Amino acid sequence: MSRLIFVLNGPNLNLLGKRQPHIYGHETLADVERDCRRVAGELRLEMRFHQSNAEYQIIDWIHEARESAGALIINPAAFTHTSVAILDALNTLEVPVLEVHISNVHKREAFRHHSYVSLVASGVIAGFGTHGYQLAIQRAARLIDEAQAAAGAKS
Ligand code: DQA
Repeated sequence: MSRLIFVLNGPNLNLLGKRQPHIYGHETLADVERDCRRVAGELRLEMRFHQSNAEYQIIDWIHEARESAGALIINPAAFTHTSVAILDALNTLEVPVLEVHISNVHKREAFRHHSYVSLVASGVIAGFGTHGYQLAIQRAARLIDEAQAAAGAKS
């Protein structure tokens, strides 16, 4: 089992820190990446961290993860609620998918209550602010460790 994780971020998250800070906080995406790198390093994980406003780019990264990753963490942002194409791409993965939202989407507009990605996610973190990414990385490490232990027990 690979110890490489992908952390993917969808549209408008490049504006984190400037965009609706009363909802998403003051931390920038660079701050989030720095914290994720620290936590991943402590857990002996390698990490690819990406953001795009383009659906096709996110799908291409999911295809890359398919070849190499042990787990994938994704905050699909607005694509959460709209993208069957991202769901289809995630469904090609054999490794755990963890869904992260900075805000508590269930406390917000009704259109944010439905997630296509949740149909494939093994777990969802919402409303824990940017700390949710670190929690998702801890969970990814645990799932990879368990998979490695199970593979070791078989051989
Ligand atoms: C979000 C929630 C989505 O509804 C929204 O479109 C986003 C960010 C979050 O992290 O809370 O862009 O995924």
